[in-house]
Amino acid sequence: MKLVTPADVPVLGPVQSRVAMAAMTRSFAADHLATQAMLDYYRRRAADGVGLILTEGVIIHRSGDGYNNTPHIETDAQAESWRPVVAAVQAAGARIACQLWHCGRISHSDYTGAAPVSSTSRAAEGINRQNDKPFGTPRALEAGEMATVYGYYTDAAKRALAVGFDAVQLHFGHGYLADQFLDARVNDRTDSYGGSVENRCRFVLECLEAVMAAVPAGRVMVRISPSREMNGPYDWPDMEAMLDHLLPAFAARGLRMLDISCAAADYHKTSGRVIRMVRPKWQGLLIGGASLTPEQGEAELRDGLVDMVTWGRALIANPDFVSRVRSGRGLEAFDRAMLGELR
Ligand SMILES: Cc1cc2nc3c(=O)[nH]c(=O)nc-3n(C[C@H](O)[C@H](O)[C@H](O)COP(=O)(O)O)c2cc1C
Repeated sequence: MKLVTPADVPVLGPVQSRVAMAAMTRSFAADHLATQAMLDYYRRRAADGVGLILTEGVIIHRSGDGYNNTPHIETDAQAESWRPVVAAVQAAGARIACQLWHCGRISHSDYTGAAPVSSTSRAAEGINRQNDKPFGTPRALEAGEMATVYGYYTDAAKRALAVGFDAVQLHFGHGYLADQFLDARVNDRTDSYGGSVENRCRFVLECLEAVMAAVPAGRVMVRISPSREMNGPYDWPDMEAMLDHLLPAFAARGLRMLDISCAAADYHKTSGRVIRMVRPKWQGLLIGGASLTPEQGEAELRDGLVDMVTWGRALIANPDFVSRVRSGRGLEAFDRAMLGELR
């Protein structure tokens, strides 16, 4: 199978398989540092043959936290805690990218110490299942503050690359800070960061530009989620217009690696509508997938829709996912109880 055979993929180069582990928050960091248990968890998947590991979301600045026991990368000491994890994963043959995360309004002052920040001053609906409180009412960032936030991403990217990560992934999806600017149903600004497609994309593009000016272009990946399952509402209403603006603008800024996160329903009910929309518009490395069977992942590769296929929950349930696919053994089904430990 193409999926589990070593390959040479765009930008990343040689990988031991085309299986990518999607970023998954596990909330097992200690004092915001990566631990030995996290090292063992990632190394196990690398040793089994995963080609690329995207780490769980790593918080770039305290103002961007929103979950229990997340790793942070705001200080050199926090970055250093990842050095042995990175070395172990790479020694086991995989590549590893650090997902850089700012939650924006999907948070609460319990985590941020002050009002969370966002594109808007309207709170997200619902309860934060992390602390069982309603999401905090955010403070809308002022235009003059954006550069400071871009600086958090840039500093975090530099720190991550300094401890050996192959790449960084800017988490611009799932209803978190960057997506709070992109999404027309959340962004209610009347300044140059809200309103038109161009204005709503401004935060993301300026942020990318700042990161690209600070680190080598081939080491940066972006994750967006034009269709998503979490932190509703779901599909961007103006998805095609957004993609038509964003994708060439990403490329013009030197970006060459993209991870498209999709709602599983998008794949299973509409045959991968989003990835089919993106592929003809994107020349660089493209990864994606949601709850696919290995056979469906293989078909995505065969049809040239993606260069690597991402799996999340299946890789929690099956630390030996790649071996199982190679040998044709079935997969263990994911069960939420599996989130209770790192194994
Ligand atoms: C426990 C859990 C934690 C997740 N945390 C993150 C995260 O930190 N960053 C992110 O981009 N996506 C996160 N996701 C979404 C996954 O990366 C993935 O897109 C999603 O689970 C769909 O893929 P799957 O059906 O193969 O699991 C998380 C998903 C799960 C199940």
